[in-house]
Amino acid sequence: MWWSLLGVVLAFSACQHEAPLSPVDDTLLGGNGNGGGGGSEEPEEVVTCSPTTVWFQQQIQPLLISNCTMGNGCHSSATDDNDEIDLTSYQALMNSGIVQDGDLWEAINDDDVEDRMPQSPQAPLTQEQIDLIGLWIQQGAQNNSCEPTACDTVNVTYSGTIRPVIQSRCQGCHSGATPQGGLDFSSWSVLNAVANDGRLAASIQHVAGVPAMPPSGSRLSDCRIEQFLIWIDAGAPNN
Ligand code: HEC
Repeated sequence: MWWSLLGVVLAFSACQHEAPLSPVDDTLLGGNGNGGGGGSEEPEEVVTCSPTTVWFQQQIQPLLISNCTMGNGCHSSATDDNDEIDLTSYQALMNSGIVQDGDLWEAINDDDVEDRMPQSPQAPLTQEQIDLIGLWIQQGAQNNSCEPTACDTVNVTYSGTIRPVIQSRCQGCHSGATPQGGLDFSSWSVLNAVANDGRLAASIQHVAGVPAMPPSGSRLSDCRIEQFLIWIDAGAPNN
């Protein structure tokens, strides 16, 4: 029966998109990914994002923006200096063809340190970040997105909540030999200082007149911003 087939399709499309290599993900165009059908009678769902799926919008895009798009000649628009590779959006990334032909994978794994991306003085990607990109490619290099709807505002700690966000969204620019803005967030003390002088809260909330952080790509989610503000209010402890 056609509806039993539909049931199977819906079951498989709930917040995960693992169809092999179809570059455009319909959930981003249409919102909830149900293609307009079904779902209307269902109660509000608590979305938890499958930890075995790599999410482009939340995990890969921030990593590329943070590590590969800053500074002159880096990949923030397609120019001759950077082999016409623009990493600021999924569309631009796919248009460059480097995911499909394996060049991205080769560039971040190159044995020759001179050729490996990101190039010095940028810090190299960690093995964990390389593995994440590899898994995303293996899962079909989708433009997928998942924001959990439950926001933990009770157990907010530096090590469990703040630091992982800083690592994935900020540290590509804010670490290494020449950290942007002179701020190296690989140590807690520097982050604690900008938390206490008000610059951290202002920059992540995109307050007018203050440099908006991150400067490109998507803003931190409302949940993340709320968690940062809770941590800042508590004195930005090293917990
Ligand atoms: C693509 C590179 C890039 C990323 C990613 C990035 N920053 Fe920045 N950040 C900069 C640059 C460049 C400056 C200096 C801006 C200026 O002085 O105009 C800066 C400055 C700052 C400042 C100081 C602002 C001020 O008022 O002086 C803070 C705080 C900051 N960043 C926090 C963050 C946080 C938190 C994140 C992650 C959520 C982040 N940044 C991600 C490039 C980046």
